[in-house]
Amino acid sequence: MLIFLIIAASDALQAKVDGRCSNCHTMHNSQGRSEMATYGGTSGANPCLTQGDCIGCHAYDRTGTNNVIIIGDGDQKSRIPQVFHNADTDLAAGNFKYLADADDRGHNVAAINNLENNGNIFPPPGDQHGTGITQPGVLTCAGVYGCHGDRSKTNQIDAIKGAHHKNDGILKFGSIEESAQAPAAGSAGDKIGLSYRFLMGVKGGEEANWMGQSPGALVHNEYKGVDGPGGSSLTSPASNTISGFCAECHGYYHGNGTDETGGSTSPWIRHPVDIQLYNNYPNTEYQDYDTYNIDVPVARTTIPDTPSNAVDDSDIIMCLSCHRAHAGPYYKLIRWDNKASMSGCVVCHTSKS
Ligand code: HEC
Ligand code: HEC
Ligand code: HEC
Ligand code: HEC
Ligand code: HEC
Repeated sequence: MLIFLIIAASDALQAKVDGRCSNCHTMHNSQGRSEMATYGGTSGANPCLTQGDCIGCHAYDRTGTNNVIIIGDGDQKSRIPQVFHNADTDLAAGNFKYLADADDRGHNVAAINNLENNGNIFPPPGDQHGTGITQPGVLTCAGVYGCHGDRSKTNQIDAIKGAHHKNDGILKFGSIEESAQAPAAGSAGDKIGLSYRFLMGVKGGEEANWMGQSPGALVHNEYKGVDGPGGSSLTSPASNTISGFCAECHGYYHGNGTDETGGSTSPWIRHPVDIQLYNNYPNTEYQDYDTYNIDVPVARTTIPDTPSNAVDDSDIIMCLSCHRAHAGPYYKLIRWDNKASMSGCVVCHTSKS
């Protein structure tokens, strides 16, 4: 009897480990001859044996209302953040569902919405470095034609390999270690897994619920910024900033030259990013922006160890001060309805309100 109990107990333990892996992996993509890689619809066998591709897991139930999907039971649960779901509780980067309203509401990632009718928008506006993303259906989640992971690798899972299993505590509030984030050398998993939201080379502070629960002045991501944009490159973000990352594909909007780029001082020729709020103006221009507004976020020169509700003139304007990253309800991914109201502009330019 005793022996039986021990076997039963170790079985349970074994099942727990098995169960945990099988939340996300399938060994043969077959069970009783039925396919197992069915997350978000059948995908066929995937690299690294996952049960779905990127959007299989991250757009798991497009008609559902959960911004985070929970897979598994009891203490075997896995939480998967959702980039496409049918409620207005969007995670920080937005919600790809808005692409159904109009193509210009977001990035038309091939696997989600290949219906970019406006072929004229390819290659990406401001493309300084020859992204090769020259027509609809090319832009992907990850890899050489996408945003996440190693932007030199063609296969998407291969481009992110190792990241999901990396302990990324140094990106989490309470244990932020900015100097160790986004290492330039090391394994692929280190370089990607220790980068902000698997955007290789980007530093930041990650809110534990991807800002999906009660975001506010004290509950938000923190983004890395610098004072002085310093150009861009195709595969690595200038100065490890989130704006330097956008500039991998939209380089002319993050420059400091005087030709196509934005210039380096006032009068600017494109709206500057990676510039401190006081830069060329007396700080009366911005001085009333002193409490963090999650609708118009700013970046920080030093990532704080807990999200801060304070804004001062050392903080940094970034692409994401005005835009969502994935998609949003308004024209050109702008965070407010810029055609109807300048409400976002005057959060910063308080003297113009
Ligand atoms: C919640 C989802 C999830 C669970 C649970 C999970 N994995 Fe993974 N795993 C992934 C994803 C996604 C990838 C591919 C992308 C990546 O590597 O980031 C992956 C990649 C891997 C890889 C190849 C990359 C690397 O890190 O070496 C191995 C090996 C692996 N998993 C083993 C396991 C084992 C063993 C378990 C159970 C102990 C497990 N996984 C549990 C999601 C999961
Ligand atoms: C088998 C399911 C699965 C697949 C496939 C998968 N992911 Fe994930 N992903 C997860 C889970 C679970 C998490 C949350 C745990 C974590 O943060 O590592 C996650 C987290 C993320 C995050 C947020 C990381 C963070 O720091 O919060 C990003 C970005 C991401 N995945 C991108 C991708 C991309 C791009 C692909 C395809 C190349 C992909 N994932 C494939 C399950 C998956
Ligand atoms: C991997 C390349 C790539 C990166 C990195 C990238 N974009 Fe884009 N972006 C594109 C492409 C391609 C288009 C045009 C196709 C489309 O809109 O889907 C585009 C279009 C846009 C548009 C116009 C959308 C429209 O449909 O009119 C905005 C706004 C934008 N990007 C902002 C950003 C911001 C902000 C970031 C950083 C968070 C960023 N992009 C990072 C490739 C990229
Ligand atoms: C997150 C804060 C922020 C937001 C939001 C913002 N700006 Fe700015 N803006 C700045 C900063 C910082 C500068 C750089 C000014 C300087 O050189 O000191 C600037 C510069 C400008 C300039 C150029 C001024 C010059 O001297 O050349 C114009 C015009 C402008 N902004 C208009 C806008 C408009 C219109 C909006 C809304 C669509 C907007 N801004 C939103 C912070 C912001
Ligand atoms: C001050 C607010 C603001 C900032 C900061 C900002 N944008 Fe924009 N962006 C806009 C507005 C408003 C538009 C709509 C078109 C216009 O007014 O020029 C736009 C349009 C775009 C477009 C579409 C252009 C087209 O041809 O359709 C892209 C791409 C884009 N932005 C990318 C970026 C990137 C990348 C950054 C950071 C390097 C950035 N934006 C920073 C406000 C901003």
